[in-house]
Amino acid sequence: MNRDPEDAPERAVARAVLSWYLDAGVDEAILAEAVDRTQPRPVARPPAVVTRAANPAPAEAHPRDPISRQPISMEPPAADTPLIEAASAARKLALAARDLDELEEILRGFEGCPLKVTATNTVFADGTPGAPVMFVGEAPGADEDREGKPFVGVSGRLLDQMLASIGFDRAKNAYIANILPWRPPGNRQPTPAEVAVCLPFVQRHIELAAPKILVLIGGTSAKTLLDRREGIMRLRGRWFEWTGPSGGAPIPTISTYHPAFLLRSPAQKANAWKDLVTLKQRYIKLCSD
Ligand code: URA
Repeated sequence: MNRDPEDAPERAVARAVLSWYLDAGVDEAILAEAVDRTQPRPVARPPAVVTRAANPAPAEAHPRDPISRQPISMEPPAADTPLIEAASAARKLALAARDLDELEEILRGFEGCPLKVTATNTVFADGTPGAPVMFVGEAPGADEDREGKPFVGVSGRLLDQMLASIGFDRAKNAYIANILPWRPPGNRQPTPAEVAVCLPFVQRHIELAAPKILVLIGGTSAKTLLDRREGIMRLRGRWFEWTGPSGGAPIPTISTYHPAFLLRSPAQKANAWKDLVTLKQRYIKLCSD
């Protein structure tokens, strides 16, 4: 009897491993070549007794990981020093941008953030540049990374519904960006250093987009742009004034829950709705002044 190769037990094991990886958020291949983790790793051997060989093999210039065969850096971990330098370069570059197109071009050419290496796309913005309301989320997820636009996955669909409930639409009167333009691998939390490198770009982004109202979506966005230590539970629904590094008129700013959080905690949708109503009331007032 010919067995369907799809039914082979090894396939079932491989499918189970892949599904376990997916559940853990590992959904991107980082190395060019797959690593077979089902094979035993080579056991570290005790150091060999050194004898003087007639023709010693030349030492490998770059030692390699025994499994991935990728070169292993012998440098000690460089802490955050390069990222601190990158943050200072980012500040200068971002301030030099005179409009959104220039900023996008500068960001696409910026190599100072390691997240760019693992990301597929630089996710700059979506919606209507110059719209009266700008929404800033945290970072692209897998869908956004693939499509190169913010909030296009499941969270994005809920965000669109939230906007529609108060008369906003990214195609007409809403502009959307993120704190980070590159997806952290596996959707992990961005490190403070990664946020610090990308911050000057999103600050300049807001300055150049010049919305009447700024809406910070989720804790990372709220804490980063408001420079506050409280979590989103305390920050949401309250008005702050955001002023960019170049000065300029303060922008009324409100935070609310991230749609990804609302999908996990639907009971909090009532509070998010209160925030949206607060936002809409201020917007109506601003437009009538
Ligand atoms: N979550 C975010 O914060 N931003 C996106 O673009 C997508 C999901």
